[in-house]
Amino acid sequence: MPASSPYSPSSSAFSAVVDRLRGDGCVFAEDEARLLFSAASAPSDLDALVERRAAGEPLEHVVGWAEFCGLRIAVDPGVFVPRRRTEFLVRQAAARAPAEPVVVDLCCGTGALGAALAALRPGAEVHAADADPAAVACARRNLAGLGGRVYAGDLYDPLPRGLRGRVDVLAANVPYVPTGEIGLLPGEARDHEARSALDGGPDGLDVLRRVSAAAADWLAPDGLLLSETSVRQAPAAAAIAAADGLAVRVAADEEADTAVVVATAPNG
Ligand SMILES: C[S@@+](CC[C@H](N)C(=O)[O-])C[C@H]1O[C@@H](n2cnc3c(N)ncnc32)[C@H](O)[C@@H]1O
Repeated sequence: MPASSPYSPSSSAFSAVVDRLRGDGCVFAEDEARLLFSAASAPSDLDALVERRAAGEPLEHVVGWAEFCGLRIAVDPGVFVPRRRTEFLVRQAAARAPAEPVVVDLCCGTGALGAALAALRPGAEVHAADADPAAVACARRNLAGLGGRVYAGDLYDPLPRGLRGRVDVLAANVPYVPTGEIGLLPGEARDHEARSALDGGPDGLDVLRRVSAAAADWLAPDGLLLSETSVRQAPAAAAIAAADGLAVRVAADEEADTAVVVATAPNG
């Protein structure tokens, strides 16, 4: 929106939006108002965006993008919003990946992890997959300019067979919220992200179990599986990968309450 617009951030309209967001419990009302103003192409758009945000839709769905590892990642309605804490997984992966790695972003959502790894490791060959058609469409947009390929289907099923034994980085930020804790999530997640993007079964680790069980078939000899969990879940997640014969270590970021299980194939 041009700065001369009556809806520019210096206007009374800006203050009105800030007040509205604040009144609806928004903590960072000024920052959010700025983003809503820049996402609107006309005053009527702005009103609609403010209404959606005030009704509790995640800001990223309303403006259509999220910042992740310094990139602007498109986020379509209903698709899991990439969390800033997951940048920790990306940093762990980028620090250990070989030059020009073959990357698979499994359970990719928007494809944020694949996009970030492609940006950090030039020459990366990026593949991504998700079961949710909305996520697949979104990831295709995010990875198109990076040469990434995105497949639709259950876990490894849609990946090209030729990737078997060639994957240097298997980044799998799978759903890991225990079923009984879904109700404790903020409404933004509970009401606006697909249940299948959140629910990891009774202990939150059901999807990770399936990913870990087949990881050795896909990893290159020194390839890495990286999967995010909460700090509390990390010992159980590490035990799952170890029971599958993988060599495991856990990297934890206690402040962000996030952990990453980093596992290598037995011959790695
Ligand atoms: C927690 S979200 C993470 C998305 C993305 N990796 C990120 O960090 O932003 C989990 C994703 O896994 C996908 N998913 C869940 N079960 C799956 C399955 N069995 N096969 C493929 N994708 C699955 C969901 O659709 C969702 O996009």
